[in-house]
Amino acid sequence: MTQALIDTARRMVADHKGLLAMDESNPTCNKRFAQWGIPQNEETRRAYREMIVTTPGLGESISGAILYDETIRQKTEDGTSFVKALIDVGIIPGIKVDTGAKDMAGQPGEKITEGLDGLRERLAEYFQMGARFAKWRAVIAVGNGIPSRGCIEANANALARYAALCQEAGLVPVVEPEVLMAGDHTLERCCELTEEVLRTVFSQLYCQRVKLEGLILKPNMMLPGLSCPSQEAVDEVAEATVSCLMRAVPAAVPGIMFLSGGQSPELASARLNAMNVRFKSRLPWALAFSFARAIQQPALEIWRGKQANVPAAQRALDHRAKCNRAARRGEYTVAMESDQQETALRGVASLKHAGSFS
Ligand code: G3H
Repeated sequence: MTQALIDTARRMVADHKGLLAMDESNPTCNKRFAQWGIPQNEETRRAYREMIVTTPGLGESISGAILYDETIRQKTEDGTSFVKALIDVGIIPGIKVDTGAKDMAGQPGEKITEGLDGLRERLAEYFQMGARFAKWRAVIAVGNGIPSRGCIEANANALARYAALCQEAGLVPVVEPEVLMAGDHTLERCCELTEEVLRTVFSQLYCQRVKLEGLILKPNMMLPGLSCPSQEAVDEVAEATVSCLMRAVPAAVPGIMFLSGGQSPELASARLNAMNVRFKSRLPWALAFSFARAIQQPALEIWRGKQANVPAAQRALDHRAKCNRAARRGEYTVAMESDQQETALRGVASLKHAGSFS
């Protein structure tokens, strides 16, 4: 493995920064726009992403941004490619390379992520365009009798084959196996399943000769299902999450960068903060963030497709990025929120509108 891969992976978690996921597929982005009455077309998606990549000071908290195939080809109004705009402020461009989670044959209610066909060629093109890391998301639904072993193994195998191709192409794989929050399962069940999923993923990564020093893991936090009657406190979530990861994630992995999965922005920051406050000095890997909704949601609600709202939306985006950087240091406090016109109410609204990600 080239030193370049290791260096990129280290840069992604350096300096208490994290990733901004802005790689919603067109249908997912359109769905988010529809909730706020924003027109759903290529130009509006471009304008929204321009608002994000030109946010003043973003590079102070964000190490890398995950783009989508449409987005990596787009430019700001003044003709600067988004890739260049990001690199100019020290943000590493990345790209989502899976082509989505599709219904699994023979496994009702379960999904398999596709996108391996032609991936070698697509990765070569993205590298040429300036991307230095790539993301692939597998989704594991929890419910009666699921997930099945067949679903876990098929998704783990695809993740490992994608990761091997990424490293061959000089891109750091961001390996994302997401155990979903939908359902009434307990925190304990989430931990058991996530441990099983992660053990299977790392066994497959080993079989496919993926070098752990040159990858990033992007897992879910350990959380009870959204409709589980018992919702554990921030510290309990932090402890459950770190205990599970300590059992299942090898020390050679440089960083664990969580997805937010539909948590409110404030809770996602508070939980990441609690993990770093309580356990950071004992952990072999960095614990960081790779959030989409938990960084973007407040900004999207303010922007609503209007140019006049861009400065306020950018302030909200930068605020969430800063909160999460503070959470990496273990220095996030609720007081950081009161400086903004963002209250706990926004957390409730975000949960209501969270939907799913693809
Ligand atoms: O694949 C999912 C995204 O990269 C993370 O999205 O933070 O909204 O769950 P999320």
